[in-house]
Amino acid sequence: MASATDPCSFSSFSKCVTKHLNLTYHVDFDSHVIKAKVALTVEVLVDNFTSLTLDTKDLKVSKVTANGQAAKFTLGPKHSFMGTPLEITLPFDLSRGQHVIVEVTYETAPSASALQWLTPEQTAGKKHPYLFSQCQATHCRSMVPCQDTPAMKHTYYAQVSVPKELVAVMSAVRDGQEPDPQDSSRAIYRFRQPVPMPSYLIAIVVGALESREIGPRSRVWSEKEYVGDLSMSHSFYISRTETMLKTAEDLAGPYVWGQYDILVLPPSFPYGGMENPCLTFATPTLLAGDRSLSNVIAHEISHSWTGNLVTNKTWEHFWLNEGHTVYLERMIGRSMESEQFRQFKAMGGWKDLQESVNTFGANNPLTNLVPNMNEVDPDDAFSSVPYEKGFALLYHLEELMGGPEVFMGFVKSYIQMFAYSSVTTEEWKKYLFTYFKNKVDILNKVDWNAWMHTPGMPPVKPQYDTTMADACIALCKRWTKEGDLGNFSEVDMKTLSTHQLIEFLSLLLQEDPLPLSHVKRMQEVYRLNALNNAEIRFRWLRLCVKSKWEDAVPMALKMATEQGRMKFTRPLFNILLKTRVLFSYLEHTHKGSMHPVTSNLVAKDLKVDTGKST
Ligand code: BES
Ligand code: ZN
Repeated sequence: MASATDPCSFSSFSKCVTKHLNLTYHVDFDSHVIKAKVALTVEVLVDNFTSLTLDTKDLKVSKVTANGQAAKFTLGPKHSFMGTPLEITLPFDLSRGQHVIVEVTYETAPSASALQWLTPEQTAGKKHPYLFSQCQATHCRSMVPCQDTPAMKHTYYAQVSVPKELVAVMSAVRDGQEPDPQDSSRAIYRFRQPVPMPSYLIAIVVGALESREIGPRSRVWSEKEYVGDLSMSHSFYISRTETMLKTAEDLAGPYVWGQYDILVLPPSFPYGGMENPCLTFATPTLLAGDRSLSNVIAHEISHSWTGNLVTNKTWEHFWLNEGHTVYLERMIGRSMESEQFRQFKAMGGWKDLQESVNTFGANNPLTNLVPNMNEVDPDDAFSSVPYEKGFALLYHLEELMGGPEVFMGFVKSYIQMFAYSSVTTEEWKKYLFTYFKNKVDILNKVDWNAWMHTPGMPPVKPQYDTTMADACIALCKRWTKEGDLGNFSEVDMKTLSTHQLIEFLSLLLQEDPLPLSHVKRMQEVYRLNALNNAEIRFRWLRLCVKSKWEDAVPMALKMATEQGRMKFTRPLFNILLKTRVLFSYLEHTHKGSMHPVTSNLVAKDLKVDTGKST
């Protein structure tokens, strides 16, 4: 039998499993605290069952009952990222097959790692505060005491009391609202999630939200300042949501979650998108880049099958979520655009993988497709590896097994087979061998150990079609080889799509830094500073910083801080530090304003060699 523990959770799922969770929230914006009560319906799997362990993180627990009777509880020592185990002793014995309702009364900490509390000034509307959650991977325990492991699935119900001028939404179906009978300044919002799902998909947002219909089962939610933007300039891409849903259903089977809404968060949202059921969370940095909006939405829609319906059993098998989702996302691209487009995206993905392997180091065990997560914080392990090594493996298998249609048949069957459950890599592999039972000899030739349990790049490099990439490769070559800058002109850009421009910049970033004269000329002829698309800007600014163009430093700092999507913010800060251009920028633009002693020590802090110190 597969192991019944998760290295990232204190709760064991061999003795009992949570079936349902009933949440009562009182959101307090003055103290940045949620006053809460959760009733967990727990099914017992063994005889003589008297105690259970829940995950918590920075929670203040005041009371625990079991079937209404007071239960003894103790909080253990705090672990750096796993939080604190909550040991509950039942006032009675239970046997296998019985259920118990465990109710915990508690408060969240203002520092809860799942939550960001924004002041009115930090919002678009500037009038009302805002709260949002991000539970994946191990942060749910900082807002709900629970068995916080993706190995387990449960339904949930929630009622949330918020100031009445605000709106609450959750990763569930909306189930009505009413004035709070206990406080006339507040309103209660209700939600139900009838499809069993893992704890990391619980999500909540409270703010001055509005919504607009964008399809038969879809609305877009955001502060009203963004809703306008959304429906004006991006209606075309948003109206593609329903087309994408239908395309995904054709590929993967029926969409089981009822509603598919999109919520556009404030700029500090750390991810591009998050697949919260019924309500995808999306960064507002997508709004200026309609193309990348399509990508992210195709990705999060795909998670409705791979991730939310079939879930990785522990975070060691995270590639099952993300690898299959990238595979599906690119199959949607194949249907809606072309096979060449899929090949182009796959090639870009290989480059992202190369970048992650370079940053982590080719011997780093975190670059294994299936890493050991013992004492590893999933946030630290996050990279393109599960996405792109996972995709590369699936694409490799697709080629071996007979092409996209054949392999999609397997993926669809895998989804049906494991729907509503959580799986390990071994279970996935076993099913692969069962499904392709006539091609086992080919499967046996795959170097599974190299793909799954060896760090660095995969053992096989797929040969992707370069039709769409050729123009990017050629232009990149010109910029790295050409001596005469007069030969470049705005015409070079005319035939490139946004995707190709992004790819062109990515290719240049892989090369040695361009001479400063080159990036200055590039700005002159292509006017890249004027482009707002975050994917373009992020690459362009890093290219300039790499060439030590000090004018780009304030722009790079601005982008790194005005939005907080980690994909952009972390590499921007990193390149500013690595190229040591931050200090030379400060020295030149603020010359004389810094005291020599300060300047010397700031230089040391920024690890800059000034010639005077280390
Ligand atoms: N589920 C992830 C985001 C995530 C992963 C949050 C791990 C916390 C821990 C989401 O589906 C995702 O992959 N987002 C990508 C989108 C991209 C691949 C199109 C992102 O945020 O960049
Ligand atoms: Zn994803």
